[in-house]
Amino acid sequence: MNAGIVVGMDVVDLPTPVVVIDRDVLERNVSAMSSYARHIGVALRPHWKTTKAAEVAQMQVDAGAIGHTAATQAEMLALAAAGSPSVFWAYPPVGSARIDATLAAAGATEVIVGTDSVSAVTELADAAAMRGLAIPVRLEVDTGLHRTGVAPDDAVTVARGLLGLRGLRLTGVWTHEGHVQGIGADGPRRHEAGLAAGRLLVQVADVLRAEGIDVPCVSVGSTPGVRSAPTVPGITEARPGTYVLGDENQVAIGTISADDVAIAVHSRIVSTEPAEWAIIDAGIKAMSSDGSTHGDGRIGTVVSDGGGVVVTGHEEHGFLRGAADPHVGDIVRVRPNHACGVMNMHSRVVVAQDGVVVDVWRVLARH
Ligand SMILES: Cc1ncc(COP(=O)(O)O)c(C=O)c1O
Repeated sequence: MNAGIVVGMDVVDLPTPVVVIDRDVLERNVSAMSSYARHIGVALRPHWKTTKAAEVAQMQVDAGAIGHTAATQAEMLALAAAGSPSVFWAYPPVGSARIDATLAAAGATEVIVGTDSVSAVTELADAAAMRGLAIPVRLEVDTGLHRTGVAPDDAVTVARGLLGLRGLRLTGVWTHEGHVQGIGADGPRRHEAGLAAGRLLVQVADVLRAEGIDVPCVSVGSTPGVRSAPTVPGITEARPGTYVLGDENQVAIGTISADDVAIAVHSRIVSTEPAEWAIIDAGIKAMSSDGSTHGDGRIGTVVSDGGGVVVTGHEEHGFLRGAADPHVGDIVRVRPNHACGVMNMHSRVVVAQDGVVVDVWRVLARH
């Protein structure tokens, strides 16, 4: 599985395409986010979808995270198996497979489910009640992303409905303020949007409390909003995910500095035949086809000498434009648009320190 990859080898000798994670940068990111969460007085529950590596889950807990956030059933199960002390599954547990998985994992660790409706959790509640369980549930509130989440004005009605379900116990409210990313490079506007999302969620929590509903947890989560939303008084938890690796989309809007990006896709130039571009061996199966906040359709930005932009990709071909003096065989290091999508394309990634391979991590829960 790790054919051709040996601890101690120079990263320039790695077979390509390959994801290389800079261990020092990643460890710095883990530690800095933990210190920040402590400083602003909120619990840290990183979203694990970014790396899906058990090693990173452990590092985050060692640095003070109270547990993790998961998106998929596979992530939730993998985190439970990896010994995460608490998993918030921020996705409606709809369908019998998700219900069975929740009940199975709840025997190994704390599993908290997220929902924006009573109907999405009724079957889970019935199944849990039959086993004498009370699964913690959090009510999702839409603070601007308009993906899932109850409208703030409907929160009391849905919360009352959740309280009426045996087999569940309502423990809080949450939001994913992902719309902050879409604001782009306007830092003050982004900051204000993050604060507004946090304030709205706290306001909803206060309305629920005024109705006699206990709301211990008020949880926000995103990397572009992490400097704003969790700083609102009343927020108790932050769930950033991308911060741990960083990516070009965060660099482009100014939420992460280029020096703090721990992930790169290493590739080789395999053709310079067409005059208008060089072809590298990393296409969308190496870098994903996640969009670019540059708005120009690129799939990656070159960070090695020679520069350039991977303007588009086929499955195993990346179209590199603007590279200075490209030659077949040259190593090209690419900063991908979106770290989470890239990790999900690979079954293992290389960890390096000072340009030398120090470890190989399995990417778990890809499906
Ligand atoms: C529910 C939820 N929480 C937290 C996050 C983490 O956000 P980011 O990737 O911006 O760090 C995400 C990302 O999609 C999410 O969906």
